[in-house]
Amino acid sequence: AQSRDYYSKWYYKMKRRNFLKNASLTGLGLAVAPAIASCETDDKKVKKSTGKTVVPVVVATWRFHNATKAAWEVLEKGGTSIDAIEAGCRVEEADLKNTTVGNGGAPDRDGNVTLDACIMSKDGGYGAVVCMENIAHPISVARKVMEETPHVLLAGKGAEQFAVEQGFKRENLLTEASKKAWEKWKVKSEYKPIINIENHDTIGMLAIDKNGDISGGCTTSGMAYKMSGRVGDSAVIGSGLFIDNTVGGATATGMGEEVLKTVGSFLIVELMRQGRTPQEACEEGVKRIVASNPNYQNFQVGYVALNKQGEYGCYCIHGGFGISKFQEGKQTYIDSKAYTKKG
Ligand code: GLY
Repeated sequence: AQSRDYYSKWYYKMKRRNFLKNASLTGLGLAVAPAIASCETDDKKVKKSTGKTVVPVVVATWRFHNATKAAWEVLEKGGTSIDAIEAGCRVEEADLKNTTVGNGGAPDRDGNVTLDACIMSKDGGYGAVVCMENIAHPISVARKVMEETPHVLLAGKGAEQFAVEQGFKRENLLTEASKKAWEKWKVKSEYKPIINIENHDTIGMLAIDKNGDISGGCTTSGMAYKMSGRVGDSAVIGSGLFIDNTVGGATATGMGEEVLKTVGSFLIVELMRQGRTPQEACEEGVKRIVASNPNYQNFQVGYVALNKQGEYGCYCIHGGFGISKFQEGKQTYIDSKAYTKKG
């Protein structure tokens, strides 16, 4: 384990580095501001609403095809969107090869796998767990928090205890492969989040069922080698996920700190409420981050949004992000447009 002294040295080093970077890039910050203020989309060909509703539908961040397929199977049979979300997210949580979600997720600096997840239902229900250890399916625990408790968010030991009381099994989530990678990382202990890590990251999922009701879920092991106790955006309502059954939903992947600071998913849903297409709203969500952080060259954030007609949008800072979609019985992968690749 790293000492307290190590953490404070790291923290001040990062603060100073960011201060210097921000100072030297102030001009860039100003340069992007007018584009943000105008709220225009970059892509004039963005498809406007057709007025046609095509549901059921499920979309998810990245190439999580097995997850969207599992969710689609629930929707196709007439199941509810909340059941579809739980079934889809569980697929990634169980995948030991996926080191960014659930069992097999990369640990924090002290070697502990800590998981964050949340779920939102059509009627505004929200349940979440953060920093939960030893339980392989945080999305299901989040659903239990929503359905079985008077609360909305349980953290750490309390979340784990609640999960066990609800019948979840305690298990070791640190695989041999993740342990080896962490031991290798410890040699230098450099915290450098990687853009598009292994081309996947958090799974955020949005689904509309045959009744036209939308639900969403988001689950992650967070940034690899994060500080102990760090919580990202994924389980925080309005940041990693937001659903409003009168409008649609949005979810996020990438650098959680930036999504949290801009309350990204809530922003996107509110923009759709005001008439933006899902694509326009996602673009504005990314631009807010870019406008407020000149360091954006060094991290990724990707958004996906779905409106109640079943129309999707997605946008990210850097190329490489994309979304899986299942609609009209067909699975597709959509490469997202990126802020740094425009023009
Ligand atoms: N988006 C995942 C995290 O930052 O934890």
